Amino acid sequence: MEIRIFEDAASLGLAAADIFAEQLKKNGASVLGLATGASPVPTYNRLIEMYKAGEISFKDVVTFNLDEYCDLPKDDKNSYYTFMHENLFNHVDIQESNVHILDGNAEDTEQEAAAFDAAIKAAGGIDIQLLGIGNNGHIGFNEPSNEFTTGTFKVKLTDSTLQANSRYFDENPMPHYALTMGVGSIMDAKKIVLIATGPAKAQAIFDTVKGEVTPLVPASILQKHPDAVLLLDKAAASLL
Ligand code: F6R
Repeated sequence: MEIRIFEDAASLGLAAADIFAEQLKKNGASVLGLATGASPVPTYNRLIEMYKAGEISFKDVVTFNLDEYCDLPKDDKNSYYTFMHENLFNHVDIQESNVHILDGNAEDTEQEAAAFDAAIKAAGGIDIQLLGIGNNGHIGFNEPSNEFTTGTFKVKLTDSTLQANSRYFDENPMPHYALTMGVGSIMDAKKIVLIATGPAKAQAIFDTVKGEVTPLVPASILQKHPDAVLLLDKAAASLL
């Protein structure tokens, strides 16, 4: 695991965007795994800037998002579908047919999950996966549990996650379930870039880097990935 520490979230965002931009310059038809939440916003802002400056294009890029809430209308302001369009897709030249976001309202969630895993495989696998990390060490919505998950599945969110994310839900109540890529799907990515900022992430980062590899801290599995880089601000890295 490579660890890079930055002064603040803004400089970290520039560095993360550079990693993605380099990948797109190398291969315009790259397959990207994307995350939502507060952590990747500076990265997406910088990628939009680079696109507008003509430095990169998303024309042939294929994306797969980590997760999506269940039982939330697709156009709700808190759906990850809305988040990705507002924070990245609406501002670049990506083709909507190349965007893959799980349908949290699918009638048959098992079928939806299997089709998502099959689509990742058909696209040739994920070249770079962007990750945030939960205060409890979750990646995607893989919550602490007794075993590492494999492929995409439906998960019941933990109290820690409900508490961390419920501040965004002022209209509809926060869903208690989500569809998420499994830890196995995440580990299959050729490269992983995890972003963590702020003091609330410090313990999870400590456990991820210095603790044992355990499903009780899902991100700890990244110790076993051959090409994982953790981009941290000083506050998130404060216990290392
Ligand atoms: C989002 C996701 C989550 C978040 C994590 C951190 O797609 O999969 O694992 O990355 O909850 O969220 P923020 O960045 O809002 O602190």
